[in-house]
Amino acid sequence: MKRAVIPPEETARQRAYEQKILALRQGGLAHVVTYGCQQNEADSQQLRGMLAAMGFGFTDDPAQADLVLLNTCAIRDNAEQKVYGALGRLTHIKERRPDLLVCLCGCMAQQERVAEKVRRSYRLVDLVFGPQALWRFPELLYEVLTKKGRVFSIENERGAIAEGAPVVRDSAVKAWVSIMYGCNNFCSYCIVPYVRGRERSRSPEDILAEVEGLVRDGYKEITLLGQNVNSYGKDLETPLDFAGLLAQIDQIDGDFWLRFMTNHPKDTGDRLFAVMAKSRHIAPQLHLPVQSGSDRVLRAMNRGYTRASYLEKVRALREKIPQVVLTSDIIIGFPGETEAEAMETISLVEEVGYDALFTFIYSPRPGTPAAEMPDPVSREEKQVWFQRLLDAQNRFSAQRHAAYVGRKVPILVDGLSGDEAWPLSARTPGGRLVHLQGPAEAVGRFAQADIVDSNTWALFGHL
Ligand code: SAH
Ligand code: SF4
Ligand code: F3S
Repeated sequence: MKRAVIPPEETARQRAYEQKILALRQGGLAHVVTYGCQQNEADSQQLRGMLAAMGFGFTDDPAQADLVLLNTCAIRDNAEQKVYGALGRLTHIKERRPDLLVCLCGCMAQQERVAEKVRRSYRLVDLVFGPQALWRFPELLYEVLTKKGRVFSIENERGAIAEGAPVVRDSAVKAWVSIMYGCNNFCSYCIVPYVRGRERSRSPEDILAEVEGLVRDGYKEITLLGQNVNSYGKDLETPLDFAGLLAQIDQIDGDFWLRFMTNHPKDTGDRLFAVMAKSRHIAPQLHLPVQSGSDRVLRAMNRGYTRASYLEKVRALREKIPQVVLTSDIIIGFPGETEAEAMETISLVEEVGYDALFTFIYSPRPGTPAAEMPDPVSREEKQVWFQRLLDAQNRFSAQRHAAYVGRKVPILVDGLSGDEAWPLSARTPGGRLVHLQGPAEAVGRFAQADIVDSNTWALFGHL
């Protein structure tokens, strides 16, 4: 496949639009809201970077803002409902201040169905664009400002890679780095491949340069992002896979932890585990979404692995990295899933013993194959299965966390919590959250913490 990299002249044109808007408006305040996953967080950093280049400052209060940008998520129906709720609230602000600019972008905005609804029923929205058009935000906003009409840019393309956009990060300690965009897996329940386009990898040179720059700037935790990082590099001209990329990044000198997500079990394996085991920077952590413990359901989901092959990978991983912290995503109530199949998922969860889980009740996404499948089980019944899963996992997470109490563990202090009793937040190498007592100056430092307490979700300690 030919790599779709936007030519530098085109990205330079966007920088020129930023300057034009700067000259046109002389500042203003922007309110940016991010829904959904870390990929969207990373996108919002670029959107904020572009807004800053256009002269905008930032505010947390939509009532103070001159421009509101909602970066949306389409993964489940409740993610979309939240956005319609936010638009409803903004309607009142816009009635009072008709010059307020309202922009809707992200995965939800890429869907024709949503664009239609916004066109008809949410007249307050001035600009709609999907993730494929993110790099053209300055040009699109300029169009809104000069044409005085609404602009919709949701053409569904395969997607491209645009380098060189400015970035405003929200932490000086942790940074996200997208290494690839899009997804080719088409899991039957999932909207992502339809809204984020085909898989495409950034060049290793661009990624290495970005990570080196972050380390130089003092960032201590760098998380590489992709919907399926394990298929990194398949579209590159010079062959390099994800394990190879990690090995190169690991060569960078400096004091930092390297994390990455998400992994797809069908493409994860020994080569990756070997690089992780002998690395200097890679944290002992793997997020390996299993979705279901039933082979029939896994097939219907189009996941490309079985319960047995998944368990075998977990075994191989733990053999190489015994202290690894393992987390997963689970869907309960996939169309046609029976109670016995849901219980197979719970038995897999108990067999693996995850440190933590992200659990979801299936939500039909229009346009995906699963949304067409018969789904006879009621929401109430799915909720009962879901609760059983939560009970099993919470019991286990609490036990896991209790085992830290009384120990001294290395941590990275990554921010202030706003909570007086535990003013700092920190992470263990495996990524577990630590509520911490200590001085504010500790933010950004590696240290040791004495763990004194724990619950289902977190640890408590002092420096
Ligand atoms: N690319 C990642 C996940 C992205 S979405 C991966 O493959 O692991 C994050 C999680 O949302 C998924 O792992 C899945 O558990 C959940 N999810 C995706 N589509 C869903 C749907 N239609 N209903 C409920 N949960 C869903
Ligand atoms: Fe969705 Fe599957 Fe792609 Fe993950 S791998 S984004 S679940 S289609
Ligand atoms: Fe949501 Fe898009 Fe991420 S659908 S989960 S924001 S890739």
